[in-house]
Amino acid sequence: MNPTIELLKSHRSIRKFQNRRIPRELFEELIRAGQSAATSSHVQAYSIIHVVDPKNREALAELSGGQRYVAECSNFLVFCADMKRATDAAERAGADVVRGMTEQLLVASIDTALVAQNVATAAESAGLGLCYIGGIRNNPAEVSELLRLPEHVYPVFGMCLGYPDQAPEVKPRLPLASILKEDYYQSERDPELVAEFDTTMNTYYQARTGGTKDTNWSQQLKPLFTSKLRPHMRDFLRGKGFEMK
Ligand SMILES: Cc1cc2nc3c(=O)[nH]c(=O)nc-3n(C[C@H](O)[C@H](O)[C@H](O)COP(=O)(O)O)c2cc1C
Repeated sequence: MNPTIELLKSHRSIRKFQNRRIPRELFEELIRAGQSAATSSHVQAYSIIHVVDPKNREALAELSGGQRYVAECSNFLVFCADMKRATDAAERAGADVVRGMTEQLLVASIDTALVAQNVATAAESAGLGLCYIGGIRNNPAEVSELLRLPEHVYPVFGMCLGYPDQAPEVKPRLPLASILKEDYYQSERDPELVAEFDTTMNTYYQARTGGTKDTNWSQQLKPLFTSKLRPHMRDFLRGKGFEMK
């Protein structure tokens, strides 16, 4: 296996960081590597807010559900889907711009995820660790206000970056056969493959917690799909100009 594939397969989220700063030069290089990600029609529909002010870091940690590593990591980034810059540019160039299309929301969200994952991989290649923070969507309006996000820009997720102070095991993924389908969508084998994965995850949780966490993948999914998760998101996005037309 080549070193890039090895690196990708060794990913694990880091939630405990050393009290050591990432040099500015390296930090900017990670962001540049992020920018090299493919981007729909070259629109580059994202902005990255590097949150430096300690007060804002504390506020974001709280707004994300009390996730301390948001305040404690070396660098905290908020990745925003940004349809403002590109649509404003097209308008200045003379276009009669249409905003608020569902497709624009998809384009901006996908672009944002791609740039972030490039930053993540670049960071890991430099010996850094990271954790995505979807928790910022618990309170997206407050986060937007804090970061002064204008219309047509919304916070998709945050990312903690820093030097790891823990070495968690790599978390297993679903069997390839359950996510890679030949020619057509087939799900006949899913119950069997998911059961196999549940056993894998149960072993993983038991080993990681000295036998105290007796759960599996399917059990862990239950709360995600039995409550309306972040039901404010639709109105929030509409309010931000992502009207889903
Ligand atoms: C978009 C996104 C949002 C996430 N939000 C959080 C979060 O708010 N807090 C957290 O501790 N982990 C968060 N994670 C990390 C996931 O829990 C983690 O990636 C997943 O459990 C797989 O584990 P691994 O990254 O160690 O392989 C998030 C991951 C993604 C991709």
